[in-house]
Amino acid sequence: MSDTKILIIGAGGQIGTVLSEKLCEIYGKANVFATDLKPNLEKNILALDVLDKDALSQIIKDNKINEIYHLAAILSATGEKNPKWAWDVNMGGLFNVFESAVEFKVNKVFYPSTIAVFGEEIPLQNTPNHIPLIPATVYGISKVAGELWASYFYNKFGLDVRSIRYPGVIGYQTLAGGGTTDYAVDIFHSNAKNELYQCFLSEDTTLPMIFIDDCIRATIEIMQAPIDQIKVRTSYNIAGVSFSPKEIYEAILKFNPNFKIEYKPDFRQAIAISWPQSIDDSLAKNDWGWKPNFDLDEMTKIMIQEVAKWYHTSNN
Ligand code: NAD
Ligand code: SER
Repeated sequence: MSDTKILIIGAGGQIGTVLSEKLCEIYGKANVFATDLKPNLEKNILALDVLDKDALSQIIKDNKINEIYHLAAILSATGEKNPKWAWDVNMGGLFNVFESAVEFKVNKVFYPSTIAVFGEEIPLQNTPNHIPLIPATVYGISKVAGELWASYFYNKFGLDVRSIRYPGVIGYQTLAGGGTTDYAVDIFHSNAKNELYQCFLSEDTTLPMIFIDDCIRATIEIMQAPIDQIKVRTSYNIAGVSFSPKEIYEAILKFNPNFKIEYKPDFRQAIAISWPQSIDDSLAKNDWGWKPNFDLDEMTKIMIQEVAKWYHTSNN
């Protein structure tokens, strides 16, 4: 029986859905408490608004939680539509998590950051870990602040916060949650439905992305790494695979030569071009052994197979 008692906040989202299953496999269902603003009893996701600090504290205390994965956030595109709300959720939630974790002596907290922390004054290729962070979105601003608070809570209170700057995450288990990289999930659904895909980014907009299996493995590897291997206390860059809409379209064409795309860039184009095209993840590689496994073709093959199942069953 594992001594690890895990709380996942934002467990119903794109990453939380898959991470919750993996953590249940590793630590046992009885040791994993999956929560979200939107409960889902079928998936064992309980109701928790991370902005309700009393409710958060109660769950931590009642279940003797010693690890938290804090995933709840408002992502880049949704955040731009309501910046104050995005700031309140992203910052207010984080503060509640860090303060409660200190109060109840939680051992470790996972806090995902993002490629959206980057903005002006970066090299677009192989963007380094440590560089000025001048993001263009409220989401990016909140994640830069979150990274700095993570470092502050580690230095001031010894709270062991571990953080990764995820690239755009591509998975088949759910739709994506309101980000600028969502096109790279949506495109597989249009392909499965034999629809024309209308892409909201221009064809040559290259961004760093990561397949969901690599994303989940990175999260678990950083959380399981010995503490002396975690040397960056803001957040680690990790790279998966970089590509443009044209390149992913061409990868899908190899499986479905009839698939069609048209490009209609919208407000998300300006966000995308403020982000890196590729990421230097040498610190994650050196410190805790990060290495991605999936390239564009391998990821495309699995996405096509798995997304097809959505439209061949009646429950999605
Ligand atoms: P998502 O939008 O799919 O899921 C977020 C979940 O948080 C949702 O289920 C939502 O209901 C929940 N939530 C929102 N407000 C809440 C609140 N007040 N209390 C409790 N739950 C609340 O997002 P995701 O893609 O799964 O992202 C998870 C984390 O990873 C976020 O912190 C995000 O910034 C980060 N991240 C994601 C990506 C990506 O491409 N998906 C990339 C970089 C970083
Ligand atoms: N995928 C996320 C977004 O586009 C990046 O954090 O907002």
